[in-house]
Formats: sequence, C-alpha cells, structure tokens
Amino acid sequence: MKYGYFDDNNKEYVITTPETPLPWINYLGSNEFFGLFSNTCGGYDFYKDAKLLRLTRYRYNNSPYDSNGRYYYINDGSDIWNVGWQPTQTPLDSYECHHGMGYSKIISSKNGIESTLLAFVPVHDNCEINQITLKNATDSNKEINFFSYIEFCLWNAEDDSTNFQRNFSTGEVEIEGSTIYHKTEYRERRNHFSFYHLNTEIDGFDTDRATFQGFYHGPANPDAVKAGHCSNSVAHGWSPIGSHHKKISLAPGESISLIFILGYCENPVEKKFIAPNVINKEPAHVIINKYGTDADVAAAYNELKEYWNGLLSVYTLTSDNEKLNRSVNIWNQYQCMVTFNMSRSASYFESGMGRGMGFRDSSQDLLGFVHLIPSRARERILDIANTQFPDGSAYHQYQPLTKTGNLGVGSGFNDDPLWLIAGTCAYIRETGDYSILEEMCEFDTGRAGVPAAPLFEHLRRSFKYNMDHKGPHKLPLIGRADWNDCLNLNCFSETPGESFQTTGPSEGPVAESVFIAGMYVKYGKEFRDLCQHIADIKSQSASELGNLPEVSELNRIIGVLDSEIEAMTEAVETAGWDGKWFVRAYDAYSNPIGSHTCEEGQIFIEPQGMCIMGGIGIENGKAETALASVKERLDSKYGIMLNQPAYTRYHVELGEISSYPPGYKENAGIFCHNNPWIACAEAAVGHGDRAYEIYTKTNPVFLEEIGEIHRTEPYAYCQMVAGADAPTFGEGKNSWLTGTAAWTFATVSQNILGIKPTYDGLSVDPCIPSTLGEYSVTRKYRGKTYNIHVSNPNHVEHGVKSISINGNTLPEGTLLLNPSADVMDVEVILG
Ligand code: BGC
Repeated sequence: MKYGYFDDNNKEYVITTPETPLPWINYLGSNEFFGLFSNTCGGYDFYKDAKLLRLTRYRYNNSPYDSNGRYYYINDGSDIWNVGWQPTQTPLDSYECHHGMGYSKIISSKNGIESTLLAFVPVHDNCEINQITLKNATDSNKEINFFSYIEFCLWNAEDDSTNFQRNFSTGEVEIEGSTIYHKTEYRERRNHFSFYHLNTEIDGFDTDRATFQGFYHGPANPDAVKAGHCSNSVAHGWSPIGSHHKKISLAPGESISLIFILGYCENPVEKKFIAPNVINKEPAHVIINKYGTDADVAAAYNELKEYWNGLLSVYTLTSDNEKLNRSVNIWNQYQCMVTFNMSRSASYFESGMGRGMGFRDSSQDLLGFVHLIPSRARERILDIANTQFPDGSAYHQYQPLTKTGNLGVGSGFNDDPLWLIAGTCAYIRETGDYSILEEMCEFDTGRAGVPAAPLFEHLRRSFKYNMDHKGPHKLPLIGRADWNDCLNLNCFSETPGESFQTTGPSEGPVAESVFIAGMYVKYGKEFRDLCQHIADIKSQSASELGNLPEVSELNRIIGVLDSEIEAMTEAVETAGWDGKWFVRAYDAYSNPIGSHTCEEGQIFIEPQGMCIMGGIGIENGKAETALASVKERLDSKYGIMLNQPAYTRYHVELGEISSYPPGYKENAGIFCHNNPWIACAEAAVGHGDRAYEIYTKTNPVFLEEIGEIHRTEPYAYCQMVAGADAPTFGEGKNSWLTGTAAWTFATVSQNILGIKPTYDGLSVDPCIPSTLGEYSVTRKYRGKTYNIHVSNPNHVEHGVKSISINGNTLPEGTLLLNPSADVMDVEVILG
C-alpha cells in the first residue's frame, strides 16, 4: 500500500495522508542549523549539536506518537484545526505533505480555508522559516483566529528532560513587538538565545505553556485557541513557549501570507546586554529584516533549490528504469548529505542526546558524500583524525560542538582506525588533493600531550594499530567490537543494564575478527596504492609533498604493507575459512563464530562482503562459494540477513548480539548497511544481475508499494529491516541515519553503474543487470564534465568491449586518463 507518490520533476515525495504508518520526516538545513520536520509538522530544531544546543522540545517515545513540533492552529468559529493535522488531529478536507530537498510543504484545507505551509532553513542563516499562506476559497467573508505554537527546550536536551528541580525555575523570555525571545540561562554563562518571530503585528502572545494550554490540557486542546485569544503571558520558570495570536479577516478569494522565523543567535560576551538583563537583539534583527517579505522568502527558497540542483548535478543517471534514476539522482544522494551532517545523532530513532559523531560512522558517511562537497569532507576527515590516539586507536565517538572524543564510550573498537584510511582514500580518489595528507592533526585533540603529526602519519598509525594487535590465528584482535557493535567478545556481562560496549576489558588477548581481517586487506591495499602514488609524485618532483616521508621510507612502508596484506590474506584463507564461507570471528576461548560447527549463528554476512571486497578468494573460487552460501543461507525476500540461524538464547560470550529477539537488529535482522557489501562483492566477481537484485531488495524506493509492511519512509534507507525470524518480517526501523546511504550510493554509482574515481582519474567498469540495455551518466569530476553513455547491445552483465572519448577510441582498459577537454563525451560499449 502506498501513502503518497514520488514527484521526480520537483524532487519531492508527496504524502497524501497524515496517518502514515510512522511519522515520515524530512531534514531542513544543510550547514549548522537543522530542523527535523515530520509530515504532520512534528520535530525540533537545533544549532550544530542536537544535545547541547536544542532550540525546541521534542518528546521521544511519547503517546500519541510524534509529539511536539511547530504547530499552527486555526479557530474558524466552528472548528479548531491545525494546518499540519497534529496535534488536534481534526480531520482535514484536503491534505498533502511535500518533502523536498531541504524543505517541506504542507498543503491543506478545511471549511473553505486553504493553507500552504512552506518550511525550510535558508542556505546561509541559522533559522527555520515557516511561511504560511491562507486563502479564503469560499464566497463569504471568513473571520478566523490564528495561533502559532512552539515549546522551547532549555538548550541541553538531556538536562531538559531530567533536571526538573532546576529547570522549572530557570526559564526566561523577552517580548518585543511580534518577536518572542527565549533567553534561559542567558543571564549567566550562555551567550546565545533564540527567537520566534512573526512578520506582522499580532493581537496577542503567550510564552507560558500552562497559560496557553491550561495546566491539565495539552497541545491538542489548548485553552487559548478555544477562547480565541492569548493572555500575553510572560514565562517565569516552568515551560517557556512561543505562541502568536493573529485575528484574520479574509474576503472571498482573498489570501494572506505570514512569515514565522525561529532563529538562533550569538552575541560576543561584552555585547550581551543593552540594559540590565535586556538582551542585545541586534543579530536577531538582522535575520528578521532579511526575511520580512514574501519576495525575500521566495529568493531564499530559490537559492536553496539551486543549491540542491547544483549538488545533485555532480552525478546524474538517465536510464529507462524510473526507480533506479530516482534513487540514484535524488533520494540516495540527499540522504548521504543528511547522514554526513547528522552522523547518528538526531532522527526519530536517535534522540540527539546520545551518540554524537561516530569515528567509523562518519568515516563511512564520507564515501557517499565526498563527491557532493569535497571541501566539507576534507574538514571532516581532519576533525576525525584530530581525535585519534597516538597508538592509532580511536575514540568511538566525538561531540560535534567540541570536536573532542567522548570519554564515556572511549575506544577499543578495533575496526575504527581502518575506516579513517577508507574515508581519506575516497577523498583523494575524488579530488586528487594529496595536500590533505600534509595537514597537521593532533592526537586526542591535543590532550594526549604528544606533538601533532601530518594526516599521513595518522593513517600509518591506523594500520599499525591492527598490525600490532593480532591474536592466536594471526587475525586482528576484535577489542570491544568491530563494525558489529553488538558482537562483544570480551564483555561477559551478567548484570542487567550494563553497557555491552564498555563493560569488560577492551583488549582481550584472544578474540579475533575475520571482518577486520577483510578490512585490513582491503584498506591496506588502498593505503598501499596511496603510498605508491605519493612516492611517484615525489620521485617526479622532489619539492612536492615535502611534509610526507621520503621515497625510500615510502618504499619501506609499501614493503611492510605488501607482506602484511599477504600474511593476512593467508590467515583468512586458512583460519578464516570454514569450507563454504568465511568465519566471522574467534571468541575469547578461540572458538569460531559463524562456522558450521556452531549451534547458532553459523554464517554471518559481514566477512563475506568485506573479505571479497578486499579481493580475498576471488582467484581461487572461495569468493564465489561464499557468495553462493550467502544466497542459500542468508537471503530473504526483503534482503540479506546478518546471520543465521538467529540466536535464540543469550550467549554471555557473544554479548549484545544475542540479547535481541531473533530477527531484530544485529541478531539476524536485515542490516541494510552491509547488504551493499555483498552487492559489491557480487560485482567484483562479475555478477551484475545478482548485485542489482540485492540493491533493489533493501532500496526504499522499490518498497514504496509495501508501505504498510515496511512502514518507514519510502525515500530514506533504514538501518534495519526485521528478518525472517521476526514476527514483523519486513518491517523497517531506524530510518535515515545509517551508513547504508553512503554504502549504497558508492555501490550503485561505482560498482554497479561502474563510474569509479581512482587515484589516476575516472574509470568506467560497469557490472549491471543484463536487462539494462543502455544508460547515461553525467559525472562532474575534478573540474571536468563527463557525459558517459553506456550501451549493452548483447545484454551482458559485465565487460567493457570498447571505450572512446570525444570520438577517439582508447587503446585499452577502462581508465579515462588525461582528459583533454572540459566536457567529454564518452561512449562505452559492453560485450
Ligand atoms: C552503528 C554502527 C555499527 C552498526 C552495527 C549502528 O547502529 O552506528 O557504528 O557499525 O550499528 O552494529
């Protein structure tokens, strides 16, 4: 069942009922100010850090669901309704929610009043604009009372929801004309405030929640709206809100536009006040004046649209497969930006208080984002590297505001360091910017007390960390966990509520990961190639990359990498091979996990994908055998499950993975993140049909018709779909903030459609479904534009027969070296 439709021309998803299976959200904001916006106006705003600088209050896991947002009420004399349906839930005469690139629009009507609400965050300002147009579509006059409503969060979202003995006394506001200023804690150490403004004169306001709602009422039945007026209440403590009241008369056919702005401002410490306890509102006035008219809003909205059109023009597919086009060109890339911005902090499943930026998560997010805005990817890589420890290990997470590692979780996730190599290599393949390797990065943001070192040295130490931490089978030690945060082999937790991630020794001397072994080989090879390219550059010109090691030292490093890669490949092919698939790990007793000898959890997805992506087993057939086992034992109609059979009881030696009921999360759920690894692996052995089949199974665009089963947004990947063992098989959870976005975009754009950035230039090597007869990709790359047309007359899955650029046939291979013109027409024939 569908709850809306895609409008590809406008790059929108149009939701046609407010009662979607779950709130279907969008993200407003692309730089520092963000809003989560559901299809019924739910959500909240924050500046930079969803935990520490939250502007509006949201209630997670509330009943009814999706409680709090920016709400607009109309009392038309006979009904009280909201333009976005929530929170009154008064049935509307018509309703549509258009989620687009960085904006949402809700178009609704009731009793002859037509409303259009446009919500977005301008590209360059720290505010959310809500422009509401109301039209009287009847032939008689309409007199309505209109109310806005937001609830302020007292900045630190965690404290806001726990520390009531303090918070019920700290709230403060100021009112100036039609602007409500929220200034809790501004009197002391904060130099920021927020404001909620309406661009026209108002007939009243409320800033005290209990006055507006009535103490025992809620946002669904507020006293003020029922009474038809506000009380001009000024909040002192308790719960400050912002509500404007406006009386509106509309003649037949007449319309009115209202512009609301919710903004964030900072003042220099010495300019905080203009009088005792009166805030300096200057920065707010600047924003207010900038967006005072419909023309101002239209210009900012157009700028946002152009911004996105520009970003999405870097990689554009044209094919006769509408769903593939829409996913590749619009929604998958859009989600890559969202995951880059949010990491795993703020969604409808991530409370914004917990996780901040993940070392491995953010490094992987780069893989799908780097082509969009390379300069921001560069900055992110350096931020991540700055948190690394001197021995190459990494904080698992860091806080976006302070950019320092989170002590609470600490380190010990032994895959983390290698992801830094993954992200950096992807950046250099995209940009050719080797200078990033010379950037000086601190260790533990300077807290380690050792001198900063060039990024290159950080990468070297990343690899060295795993090199120095191997177990009895010469495989990498797993530490607290590897990519699978829930495989906690050194934890042995028996106490309820204990964190699986931080309990027990982080450095067990025995438990090993075959998955990290695959990464070691894959990213070891990428790092090796990088070293080789640096050596080549330096050999040609001695003055280049002066901060990096000399050629002789690079050659020594290459030698070490070569022998390490060889030895690890050997270890995987022996101790890491179970006969028909790759073993997952060895536990603290050195017993295999993910082996046919296990009682439960005999085969896992992760090592199959990662080892084959690292090239292991491709030449000797092990890769094909492992992939056949994946198909036979892990595949399902909704995607490939993480492991099978599911764990049916708690295994203390395995940790969190066995804490989940069968079919959920890491215990045999369909983890969308690592399905593309198998698609990449299938592409690596030339199976285009299978790679594409895997790609479509977890792709939300392809699941639109089964919305009642899948339940999450049909335009955003979710982290997990319930596996075949679960009673709710096929149900998605944790949409938006998942490494799935980056990995699927990298897979479909590079491994399936085959347009791959390399250190030497763009290469074309498709591995596609045989049914795809032809397609074109426009790719902007290192300042040039490639118009690539691929034809597949013989309906093969793989294999470039010929390739020409601007009419000149390339002698061999697939590399597009030394482009001669700014725009290149590339003809590729498969066969
Ligand atoms: C985490 C990832 C982790 C994955 C699998 C996600 O929730 O953000 O870092 O790799 O779960 O456990």
